[in-house]
Amino acid sequence: MSIAVSAPLTSAAAATEVAARGRFLVFEGIDGSGKSTVARTMHERMMAAGRPSVLTAEPTESWIGDMVRRGNKEAASPFTETLLYVADRAEHTAQIDKWLNEGKNVVCDRYVGSTLAYQAVTLRPHLGEPAREWLRSVNAPFTLRPDVTFLLLLDPELAMERLGSRPGREKFEKLDFLRSVDEEYRRLAEKDGYVIIDAARPLEQVAEDVWNIIARM
Ligand code: TYD
Repeated sequence: MSIAVSAPLTSAAAATEVAARGRFLVFEGIDGSGKSTVARTMHERMMAAGRPSVLTAEPTESWIGDMVRRGNKEAASPFTETLLYVADRAEHTAQIDKWLNEGKNVVCDRYVGSTLAYQAVTLRPHLGEPAREWLRSVNAPFTLRPDVTFLLLLDPELAMERLGSRPGREKFEKLDFLRSVDEEYRRLAEKDGYVIIDAARPLEQVAEDVWNIIARM
């Protein structure tokens, strides 16, 4: 399996030793950006077009995914939280690799980009700027390079509206947090070549755009 984040040796698509290897499509974005809906729509459209596809997400539905959700509820330290996301990804990546080798396309709702964006923000108070590089290296052995990562960009304030959050202190804290995550995502998009999608439009329109890109692949 090809594993790397920053300096990939081979990409998922370049694993030519298996002729019919599927494509690995990842959707990233802040909470409320609509990525889950768009990911599901892409999966359904691929299936309808007769292309085998698996829809999957992180945190996963596995026991480690349950630990991630529990860690969030228990207010585990940001390091524990990070390592749980990475552990979840390690198992998930092995599964994704199998699906790809079976010739299935894999549509993944959040992957390593989520850790690189969200945990860069939660770890910054502890590690400062080096948080970003630390996160890359800790993920590298457990990470496949996606064929494409779509980044659904939406103003955090609009995202909060979509999430139906009410005014109050919690909202401001969350908005502040999402603004920082959004900044990290934009930075990643530039560095790692994410495909930026304007998610401020109706989701059908967003899905149509993404589908046209996938169809060309
Ligand atoms: P989300 O996709 O919003 O799941 P759901 O819609 O089922 O609640 O993901 C849950 C949260 O987990 C979201 O706020 C982003 C966060 N997250 C990270 O901080 N790091 C990660 O590596 C992943 C995968 C998710």
